[in-house]
Amino acid sequence: MKKVLLFGDPGIDDSLAIMYALLHPHIELVGIVTGYGNVSRDQATKNAAYLLQLANRQDIPIIEGAIRPLSGEVNVYYPEIHGPSGLGPIRPPTNLQVKAYPFETIFSIVDKYDGELTIIDVGRSTSLAITFLLGETTMKKVKAYYLMGGAFLTPGNVTPLAEANVYGDPTATQIVLEQAQNITMIPLNVTSHALITPTTIEYILKQSKATFEFLIRPIFLYYFEAYKTLIPGLKGVPLHDLVTFSALANPSLVEYVYREVEVMDKGRTRGVTIADFRPRYHKTPKRKDIRIGLNLHKDAFVQDFITIMSY
Ligand code: RIB
Ligand code: CA
Repeated sequence: MKKVLLFGDPGIDDSLAIMYALLHPHIELVGIVTGYGNVSRDQATKNAAYLLQLANRQDIPIIEGAIRPLSGEVNVYYPEIHGPSGLGPIRPPTNLQVKAYPFETIFSIVDKYDGELTIIDVGRSTSLAITFLLGETTMKKVKAYYLMGGAFLTPGNVTPLAEANVYGDPTATQIVLEQAQNITMIPLNVTSHALITPTTIEYILKQSKATFEFLIRPIFLYYFEAYKTLIPGLKGVPLHDLVTFSALANPSLVEYVYREVEVMDKGRTRGVTIADFRPRYHKTPKRKDIRIGLNLHKDAFVQDFITIMSY
């Protein structure tokens, strides 16, 4: 069983990733740290609580993370992609019971699963960076980190060059890349090929025992329509965040290379992630080499998505 502490900003693709993790027979979600990003931190907390309530998994702690980037600047949310509350047209019930744990709970979880815990971060890296600022020694007990972020050899999504999670707080990403050990980056060049079509969703909904049945169709269709306006002619929508879980559970799903990664933090190149892909790059392992996802096995991704979401 892979024990995972998730950092995220649900958000539609974050929410589908949470559903996937909850349904997966070999993944145990041991906590969710919510942060600002697609929506405000408080809305992200409500959305996570709603998903856990629907799954009857209120035993999983929700921990409140950052409300803005380390720079202190005001965050921009994305209702046009994720809906006014982050779940497309759905709003969590107003009488939802939300129990949020304090930030130090992260360190209790890392201690408890000493050496066994994978951290997956699918949002801005602010909360994860803060764990290193507050608990550097404890964080050494984490087995591995999977980050959805960055863009290599491909255009960005939030600017011509930058991916949204890294762009949102490049200083935080720099801290994480410097401090964390055993990092896998799942960047846009991988996740933008993780396309799921409405036909696949309808197929799953026919099979599904339906923990999330009434939620999946409306949030997916909202996300699909939003993406169609961004990328006309798109037949499917990229489930960026879900790929991190799928890659963790399926080691051969993504092809990787090891490189040092630099993050730009200012001006027109803010949020840009740079690695050296020149053919004459001679590989001598460096202390801070990051495992970077380069290519996704697309059919295997779709098949795995169908299998897990049909449980
Ligand atoms: O660039 C994709 C990332 O930005 C995903 O984490 C998505 O949820 C959005 O926040
Ligand atoms: Ca996200």
